[in-house]
Amino acid sequence: MSLDMRQLEGKLCVVTGAARSVGFDIAKRYAENGAVVVMLDINPQVADAAQELCRSGGHAEGCLLDVTDGQAVARRFQTIIQEHGPVYALVNAAGIMEISPFEETTDEIWKRVWEINVMGTVHCIRGAIGSMRKQCRGKIINFASKAGKTGSKLMSVYGASKGAVITLTQALAQEYARYRLNINCLCPDIIDDSGVWAQANKMYSENLHMSPEEVKELYESKVPLGRFATKEDITDMVCFYTVSGEDCTGQSINITGGRFMH
Ligand SMILES: NC(=O)c1ccc[n+]([C@@H]2O[C@H](COP(=O)([O-])OP(=O)(O)OC[C@H]3O[C@@H](n4cnc5c(N)ncnc54)[C@H](O)[C@@H]3O)[C@@H](O)[C@H]2O)c1
Repeated sequence: MSLDMRQLEGKLCVVTGAARSVGFDIAKRYAENGAVVVMLDINPQVADAAQELCRSGGHAEGCLLDVTDGQAVARRFQTIIQEHGPVYALVNAAGIMEISPFEETTDEIWKRVWEINVMGTVHCIRGAIGSMRKQCRGKIINFASKAGKTGSKLMSVYGASKGAVITLTQALAQEYARYRLNINCLCPDIIDDSGVWAQANKMYSENLHMSPEEVKELYESKVPLGRFATKEDITDMVCFYTVSGEDCTGQSINITGGRFMH
């Protein structure tokens, strides 16, 4: 089966966390295939990121937005929909990771991670889903994590937030199935060359007194397939759920090289 990406021509795809890393690569792939891409991020670099895609012939727009600000998100989606029509695909890639011992994880940390990973996703879905419902057409792809399916030490807050994204995905998949919306999430393990892994690698190498290369080798050796996921692996899966996978909804897909299988 080859994915018919050209069906994205002229369709509105919104990607959060698109200033860099995984979100940027997804926006790029959408733009390369003719979608109208709106890139949202709290990082002002999002404007340059969108410009880069426009220079390569894509139709992309970068907007500065904090996904934790429910009112700002609602206003932004109103504007986007007024200008470009209903949202066809929404990818919620904005997220942060926190590694900290449970007893040192303050309420402030819990609230910050929850606000971005869970409420940020909720706000953006709320902004887009009405337009999808009216069309009886739409794809939502959320970013959970392997850490949302199985507990990992020092990751109580991150894991709990990603677990919430999985059940949010399932609940909305049930609720909106009658409108034929496909709502799924991805559960990657470590993604090579990504922002989250750069942060984790730095922390592990400081704590374990190992070089970043040694840390990478150590963690890769835990993966049955012996390699981390690439950003391309993730983007491929997002594309599958965007232009295919018509019978899939409420799924939380492991992209873990076999490290987690349930
Ligand atoms: N990289 C990994 O190894 C990995 C593994 C499993 C899951 N994930 C998940 O995949 C997603 C992407 O990961 P990544 O490595 O590309 O992350 P990243 O840190 O490189 O990029 C995340 C982006 O989200 C943006 N963002 C953060 N807070 C925001 C806010 N309040 N409003 C708007 N934008 C905000 C950041 O500015 C950044 O551009 C995240 O949700 C992450 O939790 C990543």
